[in-house]
Amino acid sequence: MLSYRHHFHAGNVSDVFKHAVLTRLLVALGRKDKPYQVLDTHAGIGLYDLDHPWSRKTEEWRKGIGRIFDRPGAPALLQPYLDAVLAENPDGQLRHYPGSPRIARRLMRATDRLVLCELNKDDCAALKAVFSGARHTAIHNQDGFQSLRAFLPPKERRGLTFVDAAFDQADEFGRIVRAAKEAHARFATGMVALWYPLMAPSAMEAFARSLRAAGLPKTLQLELSVHPENFSDHIRGSGMIVINPPFGLEREAAPLLEWLWQALSPEGRGGTRCEWLVQE
Ligand SMILES: C[S@@+](CC[C@H](N)C(=O)[O-])C[C@H]1O[C@@H](n2cnc3c(N)ncnc32)[C@H](O)[C@@H]1O
Repeated sequence: MLSYRHHFHAGNVSDVFKHAVLTRLLVALGRKDKPYQVLDTHAGIGLYDLDHPWSRKTEEWRKGIGRIFDRPGAPALLQPYLDAVLAENPDGQLRHYPGSPRIARRLMRATDRLVLCELNKDDCAALKAVFSGARHTAIHNQDGFQSLRAFLPPKERRGLTFVDAAFDQADEFGRIVRAAKEAHARFATGMVALWYPLMAPSAMEAFARSLRAAGLPKTLQLELSVHPENFSDHIRGSGMIVINPPFGLEREAAPLLEWLWQALSPEGRGGTRCEWLVQE
C-alpha cells in the first residue's frame, strides 16, 4: 500500500539537506567530459506547488527552504542548489519547489541520462507531465528497488544511483541496505546515495552496523538534525549515505552542513555529522 505523498513534505528540512548534498554529487560528476546516468529510484512528482492544499496543511517548507531561500551569506557550495530553486521561481517569490528529478536534470548536461522510477501511478503521471518532451529522460511506473536490476550498470559506466525511499513500510532500513549491496554488486564503481530519517539511536546504530558488514567500498555518512536525540514527535533530521563519494566531498560537506544547520536550527538544537562509515 502506498500511503506516502511527498507533497506534504516538499521543501522541508530533510529536502533541503538531501538536495543540497545531491547537487554536490552532480557537480562532481559534471567535472569530467564523459556522460553519466542518474537513476532516481523513488522520484516523486518532480515539482511541488507550495500553495497546494497538501503543502499548506503542514507548511513544513517554512522551516526548510523558507529559512534558506533569502538568507544572506550562503556559501558558494550551496549555490547550485539555490539556483535550482530560484529557476522554478523566476520572480524571486518562493512558490514552487523542485524535487530531485528536476534538480538533477538542471545540473545534468544534454548527453547525461536521467532514469526516474515512481511507483505511485498518479505521482508518476504528474512526473511525466513535468518532463514532457525532455530528452534523455526516461520515466517508469515501477518499483525503485527492482529498477536496480533493470538499469545497473549503465552503459556509460559512470553515474549516481539515488535511493530516496518513502520509509512508510516496516524494514525500510533493511531494504535500503540490500539496495546498497545490490547497486554495488551490479556497478562497483558507481556512486550510490541513500537517504534515511534519523530514528532512535539504537536503530541508527543497527543501521550503521549492517552497512559496515555489507562489504561496501569507501562510504561517507552525512547527517543534519534540528532536534535532540530523544525527540520523538516526528523525525529529528535525516542522513545520507554516500558510497564511492566524489573526491573531496568530506571537505565540502562539513562547512556546507554547518551553514545549513545554523540556518535551519535557529534554536541551536541537533547538529551535523560528516564521517567515514567505511574507510578506503
Ligand atoms: C521521499 S519521496 C521522493 C522524493 C524525491 N526523491 C525528491 O527528492 O524530490 C518517495 C517517493 O517514493 C515513492 N515510492 C514509494 N515506494 C516506492 C517504490 N517501491 N518504488 C518507487 N517509488 C516508490 C512514493 O510514492 C514517493 O513519491
